Amino acid sequence: MKRLLSYIYPVSKKVPSQYNGKLEVTWYDGKKYLNTKNANYSYGSLQEILKFGLEHIHLSSISNCLLLGLGGGSVIDTLRNHFNFQQHITAVDIDPVVIAIAQKEFQHYNSPTLSMVCADAQQFILENTISFDLIIVDLYIDAHMPSQFMELSFWKAILKSHSQQGAILFNAALHASNSENLHPIISLLEVNGFLVNTLQKVNGTNTLLVAQTQ
Ligand SMILES: C[S@@+](CC[C@H](N)C(=O)[O-])C[C@H]1O[C@@H](n2cnc3c(N)ncnc32)[C@H](O)[C@@H]1O
Repeated sequence: MKRLLSYIYPVSKKVPSQYNGKLEVTWYDGKKYLNTKNANYSYGSLQEILKFGLEHIHLSSISNCLLLGLGGGSVIDTLRNHFNFQQHITAVDIDPVVIAIAQKEFQHYNSPTLSMVCADAQQFILENTISFDLIIVDLYIDAHMPSQFMELSFWKAILKSHSQQGAILFNAALHASNSENLHPIISLLEVNGFLVNTLQKVNGTNTLLVAQTQ
């Protein structure tokens, strides 16, 4: 019913969250989205942006994936349904409300090929002992990336969790003006054997880093 009504006008449900403020699950033109006050989190432009980044990655050689920032899980749908990526995904999010939304509204459930973990991404990556071929970093609170995810200490921990055979996709900035701060991260990735491609103004806005082992 909500889906049909959404062809006439958007139908929204607001869900309060301690971490993300007011989350909005919105039906629009027959499709469901997850938004915050100032940003699209899942299943809108964000999904297109990450899909564009993934098009630059050789997914056939990837045997597992770590997703930091689950949101509504739209990149999981893209990996599974657009790229037919059926390998194991570990998805981490700090917000239990977001994880409940990913389950109830977008039908992502723990399964033999998906583990959803409620944890702070920084803590998770510091304690992690598994090696991942693909790491996707998509960590925002509303339209803002918490500053610790630009720190080299975080990126050194990311490198320790990477198998060194595969790729890292970083949704690095919502606006090109923030992208100058990326140079130290790019240098660190390059020194560690990655070829880094900076994709600017993806969908007119975001900066993506695509880092691949050579
Ligand atoms: C843009 S959404 C992720 C969208 C998701 N990648 C997708 O494809 O639908 C950003 C997510 O980062 C999460 N986040 C922000 N800070 C975090 C932190 N410190 N640790 C873990 N998750 C965090 C937020 O709760 C939010 O769900």
